[in-house]
Amino acid sequence: MTYSKQELLMDVQGISLTYDQLILRDVNFRIHNIVRPGLNQGQVISLIGRSGIGKTQLFKILAGLITPTHGEVRIGIAQHPVVAGEVGVVAQNYLLFHHRTVEENLRLAMRQSGQTDKEKGEIIATYAEQFDLTAHLRKYPMLLSGGQRQRVSILQQVLTGNRYILLDEPFSGLDALMIDRVIELLIKISTLHELNTLIIISHDVENALAISDTAFVLACEKDQPGATITETIDLIELGLAWNPAIREKAEFQHLVAQIKHKI
Ligand SMILES: Nc1ncnc2c1ncn2[C@@H]1O[C@H](COP(=O)(O)OP(=O)(O)OP(=O)(O)O)[C@@H](O)[C@H]1O
Ligand SMILES: [Mg+2]
Repeated sequence: MTYSKQELLMDVQGISLTYDQLILRDVNFRIHNIVRPGLNQGQVISLIGRSGIGKTQLFKILAGLITPTHGEVRIGIAQHPVVAGEVGVVAQNYLLFHHRTVEENLRLAMRQSGQTDKEKGEIIATYAEQFDLTAHLRKYPMLLSGGQRQRVSILQQVLTGNRYILLDEPFSGLDALMIDRVIELLIKISTLHELNTLIIISHDVENALAISDTAFVLACEKDQPGATITETIDLIELGLAWNPAIREKAEFQHLVAQIKHKI
């Protein structure tokens, strides 16, 4: 598999977070632009950890929504400190405006796109078809199922044009069929543009690994307070990335079992 890792797209440097106790301790990781000849290959990274370990807090730090006690997150080709709003977020509870229809929510996401109303309508119609939302565009979010709401929420972030999209627990509350659909959709988004970078935060080891090129395990080290990155898994080097049938491979199942033990 020919590929190279080029520019730095996200540099997480020495993040720690303390509330009444230490939640995150010296979290460091880097995301590089992956280049594959002849393809638009975006990046899919997952941060895996058990419930309560500090994933959502790290999510908020990566998105610029809260300031860590120490450390810094730098993003983009120019590596500037992250600012709230420039990273798309699909929160754990899918934030949508309840008094607006699905279509109005999506139009709102495109308000700075410079397109005419007609163009926006066409783009929304095209994506709605791909995301299986055509029949729901005129509904209010309250009338959608969890899976439908999540797809609207993901589509909303795609339409803003943000290259970085963070997803907090994108597989929770969905049935197996829906999970496969979401995975398909996320893979599609990751190959729409070279710089598209999806960061998935999850306790679901198998699904997170199945879609990622790189995974980081967030866990506590023995006798140390706070969670940190305890393991980095380069699925490309292991020959376990970019393969929709990956779950069938024995090496993949072995890796999943091994990581489940470590979180
Ligand atoms: N504002 C806050 N003040 C104090 N402690 C907090 C605050 N927000 C979160 N915490 C604590 O930080 C820890 C990590 O919480 P976080 O929501 O990041 O966990 P998580 O890994 O996302 O869990 P889950 O998988 O259940 O979503 C928890 O112990 C939580 O109680
Ligand atoms: Mg959480």
